[in-house]
Amino acid sequence: MEVKIETANIKLLDTLYRIEQQCFDQEAFSKRQITYLLTDYNTIALVAKTDNDIAGFIIAQMEVEENTEFGHIITINVTPNFRRYKVATKLLGEIENLLKQKGITECRLEVREDNNAAIKLYQALCYQTVGKIENYYGKKHALYLKKTL
Ligand SMILES: CC(C)(COP(=O)(O)OP(=O)(O)OC[C@H]1O[C@@H](n2cnc3c(N)ncnc32)[C@H](O)[C@@H]1OP(=O)(O)O)[C@@H](O)C(=O)NCCC(=O)NCCS
Repeated sequence: MEVKIETANIKLLDTLYRIEQQCFDQEAFSKRQITYLLTDYNTIALVAKTDNDIAGFIIAQMEVEENTEFGHIITINVTPNFRRYKVATKLLGEIENLLKQKGITECRLEVREDNNAAIKLYQALCYQTVGKIENYYGKKHALYLKKTL
């Protein structure tokens, strides 16, 4: 299966919102939040395209904390029928490259502590767990991960 990674744009809002709802329950971003993320100048949004479908997408925000600029992965989603084809691996790889091109040398993200698929993915891509955030997702806790790019 050939997958091309391309920049996402606001014309894909309905499709990306549908995928977000397929991938998350209560934690899904609203349409308004996705609109903001697709249009904010500080974000990078990419889609994974197959011949006929959008297989998934990723959005990162560029942030600064204590004088360190870092990329923050806000959401990554792959539709159920395209999972385990390395779509997420490609999306993360490409967004990391784009962050590096902007001079950013660190990527951070949160993951629900029981989201084994995502934790395995991040471990495979050399993200390190550096902390835990209590009640980050309502009553569920998050692991906080970082990677040096
Ligand atoms: C997590 C998610 C993005 C992974 O997408 P994907 O395209 O299937 O991931 P990849 O094919 O790139 O997986 C790469 C590696 O990650 C690990 N991995 C991915 N999914 C896994 C699963 N369900 N179980 C175990 N390991 C898994 C494996 O090591 C895999 O390599 P392998 O297939 O050679 O064993 C996808 O399952 C998803 O969209 N889930 C719902 C949304 C979500 O949880 N997003 C993350 C929020 S933090």
